[in-house]
Amino acid sequence: MRIVTYAEADLPDALAAQTAALEAQAWPGSTPGHDPALAPRVMLLLDEAGAVAAALTLLHKEIRHAGRTYRAAGLSAVVTRADARGRGHGGRLVAAARAALAARPGPDLALFSCDRELAAFYEAAGFRRLPGAVLVGGTPEDPLATDAPGFDKVVMAEFFGEAETDQADPAAAFAGARIGLYSGTIDRLW
Ligand SMILES: CC(C)(COP(=O)(O)OP(=O)(O)OC[C@H]1O[C@@H](n2cnc3c(N)ncnc32)[C@H](O)[C@@H]1OP(=O)(O)O)[C@@H](O)C(=O)NCCC(=O)NCCS
Repeated sequence: MRIVTYAEADLPDALAAQTAALEAQAWPGSTPGHDPALAPRVMLLLDEAGAVAAALTLLHKEIRHAGRTYRAAGLSAVVTRADARGRGHGGRLVAAARAALAARPGPDLALFSCDRELAAFYEAAGFRRLPGAVLVGGTPEDPLATDAPGFDKVVMAEFFGEAETDQADPAAAFAGARIGLYSGTIDRLW
């Protein structure tokens, strides 16, 4: 098995079609593709036959928080082919995404949300929970927050480079905070 990474715009058609099929399996009715303004990069775990076993997309955006500007990246549309789940593929791909984000130059932090039941899956791949944090996506005019009624979401993060080393606890500025991500109208909570 091997992992390949493409800017979304450069994803070969056959891999794009397979990725869209996995996403449709997991999220029926969803629209494939991400907002080009978020510089989407698609990471795929390919099986021995070259077929997509798992997929995710890295999205990127600057955010302002607590008086600082951070280059943030998020994990989006993390999915393993239904017949290939439970074999470590998703975990392997998510860990590879963390390693890619940690490489310099790179973002200051990873920031995304997941259903509470999946937090341990992301923790096992090297991300951490931000206790009490709320991620606010969408737009300032039409926000979508992780504490919206009916959601049971957890905010996950990891800190890289200077953001990791210049404070005793880099998560301190984010834990318990409402974080304005404002990732737009397409990837509303990326
Ligand atoms: C979540 C997902 C990507 C995991 O992929 P995978 O290849 O099966 O992952 P792995 O085999 O590496 O690890 C699975 C681990 O996650 C846990 N897990 C997966 N889905 C879970 C769920 N819905 N609830 C609780 N735990 C879950 C498994 O129990 C397993 O833990 P274990 O190793 O301790 O047994 C896959 O289940 C999937 O595609 N789900 C549908 C799409 C989705 O919900 N994506 C996440 C969006 S935030």
